[in-house]
Amino acid sequence: MNNIIVALVARPEGMVKESDFDVISKPVEALADNQLLIKNEFLSLDPAIRGWMNEGTTYIKGVELGTVMRCFSAGQIIESRHPDFKEGEYVAGLLGAQTYALSDGKGLSRCNIDKGALSLHLGVLGMPGMTAYFGLLEKGKPREGETVFISGAAGVVGSTVGQIAKIKGCKVIGTAGSASKCNYLINDCGFDAAINYKEENVHEALQTHCPDGIHIFYDNVGGPLLDTALANLARGARVVICGAISQYNKKPMYGPSNYMKIVTARGYINGIIVFDYIHEYPKAVEEMSQWLSEGKMKTKEHVVSGIEQFASAVKMLFTGDNFGKLLLQV
Ligand SMILES: NC(=O)c1ccc[n+]([C@@H]2O[C@H](COP(=O)([O-])OP(=O)(O)OC[C@H]3O[C@@H](n4cnc5c(N)ncnc54)[C@H](OP(=O)(O)O)[C@@H]3O)[C@@H](O)[C@H]2O)c1
Repeated sequence: MNNIIVALVARPEGMVKESDFDVISKPVEALADNQLLIKNEFLSLDPAIRGWMNEGTTYIKGVELGTVMRCFSAGQIIESRHPDFKEGEYVAGLLGAQTYALSDGKGLSRCNIDKGALSLHLGVLGMPGMTAYFGLLEKGKPREGETVFISGAAGVVGSTVGQIAKIKGCKVIGTAGSASKCNYLINDCGFDAAINYKEENVHEALQTHCPDGIHIFYDNVGGPLLDTALANLARGARVVICGAISQYNKKPMYGPSNYMKIVTARGYINGIIVFDYIHEYPKAVEEMSQWLSEGKMKTKEHVVSGIEQFASAVKMLFTGDNFGKLLLQV
């Protein structure tokens, strides 16, 4: 049996390129004691992949050249010599961009497919959904009646943040890069307003939609948009820095010049790394799957087929060509 592997072979300067990866085939290794073999069904294409292609360590070490590209994936256990895992179970974790993954079980989470299809365990019920849940509730601390502004709102993280904020009784405004994404936010996700940042003046739109200022800014985009949001903060505002996708391909990254607004607004800037909440995921999955089944929460997936499409699909995250949680069906 052969394993198809997407290996990182070059570190990009700027935008990800197809030539940064090589697709190779090699035999699946034999199982040792306490190992299990997973047949991946979906690979999760997350913006974090861009950072993992760089050299050095941030919150996690960059991928070594010539090795399997790191990514989340989900699949079924087809063989097990591990006492805690049985054949047939579905699991997800950092299993890499490959068709089969050997694992010692560390860091794997079980996917209860009664709570949602396997692919959802890489999206709204997986790492990005957990980011939305803990980033908003633990760092943003929303209160009923407050105004929440989200950048990159049509993605899996942003749209989930907005829907949780609506459940908590907030007014919700988001930015997205097309009219169809803005319509989705208002008509499907229940946002109060959506701003097409490519066509509208975001500062003017915020003054219209947030007359009392922004109480929580949940930032997925960074760059000049962060400055615009800072200029519109309400007193006591919380800024949650979740990501800065507009800056991942840039060196140096743009830093905010409006940061003194944090002083005058008596505000806070907080960063979130989802892995800090790993022990609390089960309670969040329980609550989110309940909201999904009650129709209080919607989610959208964008599925690309074929592991050899890995590089071109990753690029979609940075051009905005994905509409929903980007997945690669193996
Ligand atoms: N801190 C954590 O633990 C953690 C965990 C997971 C994710 N994140 C972060 O959360 C953010 C959203 O992730 P996601 O998985 O939900 O991705 P996503 O929003 O589904 O996909 C990325 C989207 O970003 C937008 N984008 C790309 N380049 C942009 C630019 N220059 N300016 C403005 N928007 C741009 C595009 O949408 P448009 O069409 O709207 O431009 C694109 O569709 C990312 O910043 C990611 O790094 C953080």
